[in-house]
Amino acid sequence: MISSQTMKYVFYPAADKAAAPTLVMLHGTGGDENDLISLAGNFPGNWNVLGVRGNVTEQGMPRFFRRISFGVFDEADVAFRADELAAFLKELAAKEGLDAGKLIAVGYSNGANIAGAILTREPSLFAGVAMWRPMQPFTALPEFHGTAPVLTTSGRFDPTVPTTHVAAWQSALQEAGYEVEGHMLASGHELTGEDIELTANWLARWQ
Ligand code: MLT
Repeated sequence: MISSQTMKYVFYPAADKAAAPTLVMLHGTGGDENDLISLAGNFPGNWNVLGVRGNVTEQGMPRFFRRISFGVFDEADVAFRADELAAFLKELAAKEGLDAGKLIAVGYSNGANIAGAILTREPSLFAGVAMWRPMQPFTALPEFHGTAPVLTTSGRFDPTVPTTHVAAWQSALQEAGYEVEGHMLASGHELTGEDIELTANWLARWQ
C-alpha cells in the first residue's frame, strides 16, 4: 500500500512572487527541504525558492521514492511519488499565487531522479529542469514528449551512475524533444563548484 501524504517544505518568496520564476530545490538521499537552499543563493536573485522534503524514509534518511537496493528503484513508487510531487507543486503554486508556468526544478541525485520521472509523466509541469548526477528513473521509459530546457551534470568517476547510463538517459530526453545540455565533469557523485557555475549560467535564460 503506497500512502500519499502532504509534503514538508520551506518557501522563500520573491519580492514579486506572482511574476517571478520559482526554483524547486530537490535534495539527495538523507537531505531535507533545507539542504539545497543555500546553493540557490548562487542563482539569479529575486526568484521564489522552494525546498521540498521527500515523503519516503530509508533507515531514517529522507528520499523521494523507495529503492529495492542501491541503484535499483521501486519503479511503482517512483511513478506514484512523481505524481504526488507534481500534484503538490501545482497545489502550492495555486495556494501561493505563483506562476505555475515558471517552475524550475533543481535536483541532486535522488532529487534529480524524481524530477526526471516527472519529465516523463508530466512534461508540461516544469519550465526547466537541472539534474545533478541523474539516473534514468525507469528501466523501460513510457512514450513521452517535452520541449523544456534540461541541464544534466554528471561525474566521470561517479560510482553510482555509469557514464553509459548518463548518455542513454540524455539521448532518451533528447529524442522526447527536450532541449538537453549535458556536462560530464571530472568528479564523482559529489557536487562541485562547476555544477553550480554551469547551473547559474543555464538559469540566466529566465532572468
Ligand atoms: C542515491 O543514493 O540517492 C542514488 O544515488 C540515487 C537514487 O537512489 O535516486
